[in-house]
Amino acid sequence: MPRTRDTEDITHGLSQRPASISPKYFYDQHGSRLFEAITQLPEYYPTRTEQALMRRHADDIARSVGTGRTLIELGAGNCQKARALCQLVRPACFVGVDISADYLREAVAGLQSDFPWLDARALGGDMTRGVELPADIPRAGRLVFYPGSSIGNFDPPHALQLLAHMRELVDDDGGLLIGIDLPKDVNVLEAAYDDAAGVTAEFNRNVLRHVNRLIGSDFDLAQWKHHAFFNPQESRIEMHLEALADAQVRWPGGGRMFEQGERIHTENSYKYPLPVFTAMLERAGFSDAQAWTDERGWFAVVHARP
Ligand code: AVJ
Repeated sequence: MPRTRDTEDITHGLSQRPASISPKYFYDQHGSRLFEAITQLPEYYPTRTEQALMRRHADDIARSVGTGRTLIELGAGNCQKARALCQLVRPACFVGVDISADYLREAVAGLQSDFPWLDARALGGDMTRGVELPADIPRAGRLVFYPGSSIGNFDPPHALQLLAHMRELVDDDGGLLIGIDLPKDVNVLEAAYDDAAGVTAEFNRNVLRHVNRLIGSDFDLAQWKHHAFFNPQESRIEMHLEALADAQVRWPGGGRMFEQGERIHTENSYKYPLPVFTAMLERAGFSDAQAWTDERGWFAVVHARP
């Protein structure tokens, strides 16, 4: 096994008490497909709510954002949201960034063939380590697009740091279009992260399969139970994997014992009240935030400018 930053990062997290694995490791090819299946579940409201509200407020959003821009989507995944936004605002250039590079390349190729007028690029990479755009990506009129409430994966200080980084990606004529999931009834929240069909459970356990491949560990997926709940103090959904029995896990150069009931923390998904989030945007160097929400007030799409 090569010792990479990922290896260091994962073995460090696994050795902590409680243990943790970063949610970015959910997204191997299989994990990206499972996430796509999650977005279609009846319980998982964010994707469909964001989509519907962007369709409903399409004219306003298009007017606010403007056409002919360079659209930079972070975590572009299957590029389905990019497709809708490109139809709406006709950017000149599209750059999709995603950690799941092969999955992304396929999706961007699909986008390119649907929109021959668009200059579409795929950039594989871990945006949590900072995005470096190739020199030939136009600087003028950049719009960073970060939909789906993915910002919710980061704790507030880290989220602020990422927003500040997005500010640095654009000039004064740039903008940010970002989706955020809002606090709501705890039953609605918890069902969205613990669906009846067990797809989210499979998505959660799949992180162990990916980790096994990355660090050469021997996690037995069948020994781990999906556990998701809303933490009201932190205003976040937490996902964990809980050992069903005592488990000895080994990897080259290390290992660890997990007792029955011990958990590995795999994800946080913060739910920010809109005013809290717009205050963060201001601290990150954005102002003039315009927000659109759905009728139930479950989700918001915000456009902010430097
Ligand atoms: C991709 C981070 C927005 O937090 O809702 C979905 C990931 N995890 N179900 C989310 C996720 C479990 C998702 N984000």
